[in-house]
Amino acid sequence: MKTSGGDDGAKRRAGESAADRIEDGQVVGLGTGSTAAHAIRALGRAVDAGADVEGIPTSYQSRQLARECGVPLTTLEEATPDVAIDGADQVAGFDCVKGGGAAHAREKVVDAAADRLLLVVDPSKESGILDHPVPVEVLPDATPTVRDSVADLGGEPTLRAAERKDGPVVTDNGNLVLDCAFGAIEDPSELAATLSAVPGVVEHGLFVELADEVHVGAESVEVRTR
Ligand code: A5P
Repeated sequence: MKTSGGDDGAKRRAGESAADRIEDGQVVGLGTGSTAAHAIRALGRAVDAGADVEGIPTSYQSRQLARECGVPLTTLEEATPDVAIDGADQVAGFDCVKGGGAAHAREKVVDAAADRLLLVVDPSKESGILDHPVPVEVLPDATPTVRDSVADLGGEPTLRAAERKDGPVVTDNGNLVLDCAFGAIEDPSELAATLSAVPGVVEHGLFVELADEVHVGAESVEVRTR
């Protein structure tokens, strides 16, 4: 499983803290990444103990893990998520950058559809301001034009390379990812709207004003609620 670093014990505490919030009968958006994976495993244990929950996965990875853990699955066609649990690459307040695992397009669809979004992070993800490169999923044919648009906006786009495959990362949706460094992002809402308007951009990893809670897996878990 891909991980963006950080302490696994802290990730586990954050994931399990959010999973504890889930109530019987709820439909849960299942985020992607090493921290959300701890929440999925905790939900699997709850199902083993008799809990009635269903999950909507955000990626191939979260679908497979949910199956392994025995979490029953459903889809956005059949249900609306009551809550979603998802990780992040960097969090400032209740805004975050996601997409380190290239799953941010489906994550945003599911997370935005949920009544509540619980972010789960280890303390290394917290920041005063967002300055992490923003993953931008692009239609393959649009890569040159999106790259130019990002450069016009003052960003430095880098095509994400695969690690155990020659060539670029290809997302679960068959697209490519440009990691776009903008330095400190003073106005995440404005950048999010601008990137969304670029032709060929499928989705970007700025999640602005979507999160309702942030569970930070410090020694004792800190929960911030909006
Ligand atoms: C997946 O594309 C990402 O949005 C992840 O949720 C994010 O990278 C956090 O991953 P970790 O929990 O593994 O750090």
